[in-house]
Amino acid sequence: MITELTQNPEESRASYDRDLPVYHPEVLIFDSSEEVDQFAADLIIDQIAKKPNSVFTLPTGSTPKDVYGRLVEAYRAGAASFSDLTIFNLDEYWPLDPSNPASYASYMHANFLDHVNANLENWHIPQSDASDLAQEVEKFSGELAMSQPVNLAVLGIGPATTCHIGFNEKGSADDSRTRYVALDEETFAVNSAQFSSPETAPKGAITQGVADILEARKILLIAKGKSKAWGINRTLKGSVSADAPSSFLRLHPNTTFVLDKEAAQYLS
Ligand code: GLP
Repeated sequence: MITELTQNPEESRASYDRDLPVYHPEVLIFDSSEEVDQFAADLIIDQIAKKPNSVFTLPTGSTPKDVYGRLVEAYRAGAASFSDLTIFNLDEYWPLDPSNPASYASYMHANFLDHVNANLENWHIPQSDASDLAQEVEKFSGELAMSQPVNLAVLGIGPATTCHIGFNEKGSADDSRTRYVALDEETFAVNSAQFSSPETAPKGAITQGVADILEARKILLIAKGKSKAWGINRTLKGSVSADAPSSFLRLHPNTTFVLDKEAAQYLS
């Protein structure tokens, strides 16, 4: 089944230069990506069972697709209801027509929201075609601040060596808040492939900041496949620093990493 690497939370003072406590996250390694999906879906369903009006931060990307698939199945089987949830997306491209199939709004509709009983009035995602960027950032961050604490923040991790969470690219500080971020070259190279032509791909996004993410009561990071192995190793074994924003998750006392064997392959 699973290998449990460390127990959470074990406090230690590591290399983080602001002298904040650094924790050892719980790391669960599954033999298959299907087990990762099931674990994540079960954790979400359990949270809703405990607190039907939970506040969630939810991700997009290929990683959580099958988790959403399992949530939809659970809904159809009568095992989960999403009607009282408040949902914040982690991030969204800007500028972009929200009806573009590569927008995160389209993703959420296609993979989750159109198939369950979520109340769309309680779904918050930055508007990708907002004409006033500053105002949109303020609106989203205001709504998020009003709804904190998020009960469960579910995250993926950026590809290759990006180590981004949301779109908090390298250089993002641990106290960063919701803002516009220009995409790293490496991120753009991977993400622009989801657009019909790279010229039409947005060069930036609105993202929850690291500090927004760290305010959640619980954080679940999902990573699958060998393309995430370097980043996971850097996140968990390297220094806690802005050159790998995902390493800031070690400043949170209640974070679980769920990994398949491939994503965990460089962890000893
Ligand atoms: C994008 C998103 C991230 C996500 C990452 C990984 O860059 N901004 O929030 O974690 O992609 O995506 P995938 O799961 O497709 O590898």
